[in-house]
Amino acid sequence: MSLQRPPRDLADHYDRLAPDYDRLHRRWLRHAGGEAQAALEAMVRALATSKSDLLDAGCGTGALARALIAEGMSAAGMTLLDPSDAMLARCVDIPAAKVKGRLESLPFDDETFDIVTCAWALETVPDPNVALMELCRVVRRGGVLCLAFCADMPVSGLADRLMRRALLWRGTGQLLSREHVIHAISSLGEFEVRSVPSRGPAATLLARRMAEIGVASISS
Ligand SMILES: C[S@@+](CC[C@H](N)C(=O)[O-])C[C@H]1O[C@@H](n2cnc3c(N)ncnc32)[C@H](O)[C@@H]1O
Repeated sequence: MSLQRPPRDLADHYDRLAPDYDRLHRRWLRHAGGEAQAALEAMVRALATSKSDLLDAGCGTGALARALIAEGMSAAGMTLLDPSDAMLARCVDIPAAKVKGRLESLPFDDETFDIVTCAWALETVPDPNVALMELCRVVRRGGVLCLAFCADMPVSGLADRLMRRALLWRGTGQLLSREHVIHAISSLGEFEVRSVPSRGPAATLLARRMAEIGVASISS
């Protein structure tokens, strides 16, 4: 799935990065991942209801949860998961459940959440395939998995190229193959996967778990 050597375990790295994370991540969004992030947020806004149970896996400093709450989504049904204590500490103002944990072994029962989001975290784990299977496992039937990740997409501008190189040079993640991610989810036979076009070395995917196996619920 990855086009590069898998990274080392990055939880410690993000512990150290936490104080500067928002500033650095804003740069990434400005020059490379902004469209993919906007697409992810728009999907979640369109799909969430006041009763949705939402997991943000690899939540970082909680920026996505904060944005959704600011727009009226209830924090009551939200769960924020990250392995980094320092990142979770930065979510202290968010009145949602916080869980220390890893994508590769999510501490939740099967089919627990209506919406599972994972933004810029899938590519930070050593085995994204295992993480992806875990993310799919905890999505309820009829629910969705919303992903944004660094992807090996064709890049056009200088900024794109520099951000791509910086990611690989810093070793803070890897560029995943969007097609491989789509294939891995689709091969479960229970999800309908859509890719949302965006510029930059990034991809956004919406994967809906069919209400019944073999019955797709996203009209095309
Ligand atoms: C690039 S940040 C993304 C944070 C946030 N989702 C955002 O959009 O700003 C990657 C996050 O993944 C977390 N992470 C690293 N390894 C992880 C793992 N094995 N399981 C879950 N999260 C992990 C890091 O601690 C960090 O918070």
